[in-house]
Amino acid sequence: MMSNPNVPNLANSPNYLLLSMTAQLNYLMCAPDHYDVDYVINPWMEGNVHKSSRDRAVVQWQKLHEVLKGLVNVELVTPAKGWPDMVFTANAGLVLGDKAVLSRFLHKERQGEEPYFKAWFESKGFTVFELPKDLPFEGAGDALFDRNGGWLWAGYGFRSELDAHPYLAKWLDVEVLSLRLIDNRFYHLDTCFCPLTGGYLLYYPPAFDSYSNRLIEMRVPADKRIAIEEADAVNFACNAVNVDRNVVMNKISDRLKQQITNCGFTVIETPLTEFLKAGGAAKCLTLRTIEVPVTNEQVTIEQSGVEARIVELRGHLLDSGIINRALDLVTDNGGSFQVLEFSLGEQRQSTSLARIRISAPSHDLMETIMGELIEIGAVLQDRDTCAANLEPVLQDGVAPDDFYVSTIYPTEACVDGEWIRCTNQRMDAAIAISADGSAKCKLLRDLVVGDRVVVGYDGVRTVRKPEARDTAKKEEFSFMGAGVSSERRVELVVEQIAWELRQIRDRGGKLVISCGPVVVHTGGAPHLAYLIREGYVQSMLGGNAIAVHDMEQSSMGTSLGVDLKRGVSVKGGHRHHLKVINSVRRYGSIHKAVEAGFVKTGVMYECVTNNVPFVLAGSIRDDGPLPDTVMDLLEAQRLYSEQIRGADMILMLSSMLHSIGVGNMTPAGVKMVCVDINPAVVTKLADRGSVESVGVVTDVGLFLSLLVQQLKKMDSPVAVGV
Ligand code: ARG
Repeated sequence: MMSNPNVPNLANSPNYLLLSMTAQLNYLMCAPDHYDVDYVINPWMEGNVHKSSRDRAVVQWQKLHEVLKGLVNVELVTPAKGWPDMVFTANAGLVLGDKAVLSRFLHKERQGEEPYFKAWFESKGFTVFELPKDLPFEGAGDALFDRNGGWLWAGYGFRSELDAHPYLAKWLDVEVLSLRLIDNRFYHLDTCFCPLTGGYLLYYPPAFDSYSNRLIEMRVPADKRIAIEEADAVNFACNAVNVDRNVVMNKISDRLKQQITNCGFTVIETPLTEFLKAGGAAKCLTLRTIEVPVTNEQVTIEQSGVEARIVELRGHLLDSGIINRALDLVTDNGGSFQVLEFSLGEQRQSTSLARIRISAPSHDLMETIMGELIEIGAVLQDRDTCAANLEPVLQDGVAPDDFYVSTIYPTEACVDGEWIRCTNQRMDAAIAISADGSAKCKLLRDLVVGDRVVVGYDGVRTVRKPEARDTAKKEEFSFMGAGVSSERRVELVVEQIAWELRQIRDRGGKLVISCGPVVVHTGGAPHLAYLIREGYVQSMLGGNAIAVHDMEQSSMGTSLGVDLKRGVSVKGGHRHHLKVINSVRRYGSIHKAVEAGFVKTGVMYECVTNNVPFVLAGSIRDDGPLPDTVMDLLEAQRLYSEQIRGADMILMLSSMLHSIGVGNMTPAGVKMVCVDINPAVVTKLADRGSVESVGVVTDVGLFLSLLVQQLKKMDSPVAVGV
């Protein structure tokens, strides 16, 4: 490399302090000889094609040039005809010390600028680094050094790729913090983010995703963060040139000016409206060509924090919408992707294959993305062998860190070259491989020393049944698959559920009911009792209260002291339920109370007389409890999951506690209907992302009465409505 007056001799400046003598700072600009808005590659250019005045642009540019010349040494690159955006030299590349990373423009409209900028960097003696052809990175427009900490803030999301960041870290030997831009008006980092002398930061938080905002807040103390309002942001207040304590920009509000001044800066406004029409202002029109690293610690490629992995998806990727879902979830979680291979199935019924490279700005985000991708059926494919990583359990009841957390979907783990299907599928468990090589979903408390547990995401896959193809199956429940039904659709949903219930009963299937005491309070008990009596219900799950109030109603005519027929509280009624508990305790069990004739109707009565098993799980607020209530919660969970095994459908009636508990234990494939007046409960259950779960937001008493009415109608069509 030729010796170069532009480039500071780093070898002689051991502590690499930021240059404080402004005279030594160099900035690169490009005169607007050929400037115009010729095309649209950002939202600011829309509606402005050929609407800017060259004369005014020249005057504004010259003013900026004058201002900057008073502060720093300005150099010029010769404008090239046909490249109107070349005035925006911030996008020439990124400079640190004697190195320059040349930009790779995303849009072909600007790619022709690259050779001119490259020639300029070379003429000044910079070592020029060039990114792979298909990896966009738009220079200092998307990469800004922190003025204090010595790291690089790098933007991605619109013009630059996340995958370019590790190159910056490696070539420039600097820590890179990746920030994801989410508002297309602020498509370059320098349009919404401006590090200032002394560790200050001028920025517009809504332009970044929440993870990036957290990162910013972790690095920049609150008293140094100057968060600006939208009105200033759209005037490009962040697109400022900061030289020492001077900040040069287009125009800002008095309030913001005051705020910046209070931090010890002088604000210099200079109008740049003609350039705003192309989506740029002061900072875009300049490139600081002396950037000196603050420290010289060795930085490795890992220090960009960016991780990359390759996953494979197979199936009816297009018509099932899986591919869109996969790519959306990657970007929604702050990652980015590159489709390496996509082969479409030739026939309608044949499957497609996609190989996708996923990058994420941090390990944590990569974990989140992988978890979600595996849930929709992706398989990690970037190792030669796809083996699950197994780690031994070292303490009973405790999994190794990083254990793979199971989902409701059928899951397989690859052990010794073979994919093994897990038994006991449920969510929130660990996958334990036992000595005989079998795989099982085990709750943390059930793990024992000697188990080997799957950690990480390698060698794990979920097997999703082909959704879109399976139309015959889908139709049954399809309109419910939409998620949550509100009042208007209740009758429609009830018809569908009644039909399902009949089918399950008639083929000897299994319906499990989980319910709360609201069933009784809302007058639903006789209807539920009917379902049990008529053989629709094969198992009942609930708590202490549903049984107590059901038996209170059948023996004393009240539910929690309220006479349901008249809707009024009866005198002394608040003691009724305790009396019932006391009586049943005297009999010793619900069965015995029924046999003795103390309980003659109702839900519990029908369970006992029709041999329908029930489990009552206790809780902290239980009165009594009834002798049947299982107060050992671990035991209750075990009994619940035993009852759920083999279920075709679970009807969850108005109990947040039991519904969610049951949802957690239930594998995909079991239809779930959740009825609750509280939409939050219903949404939580319907969110299982499968067509089999449906939520109905309505009064449970009303629901049960409609359901029974519908079943009776199906039994004797003639008697309808009478
Ligand atoms: N019209 C140019 C583009 O869309 C404007 C570039 C502004 N530069 C910047 N560093 N923000 O690429």
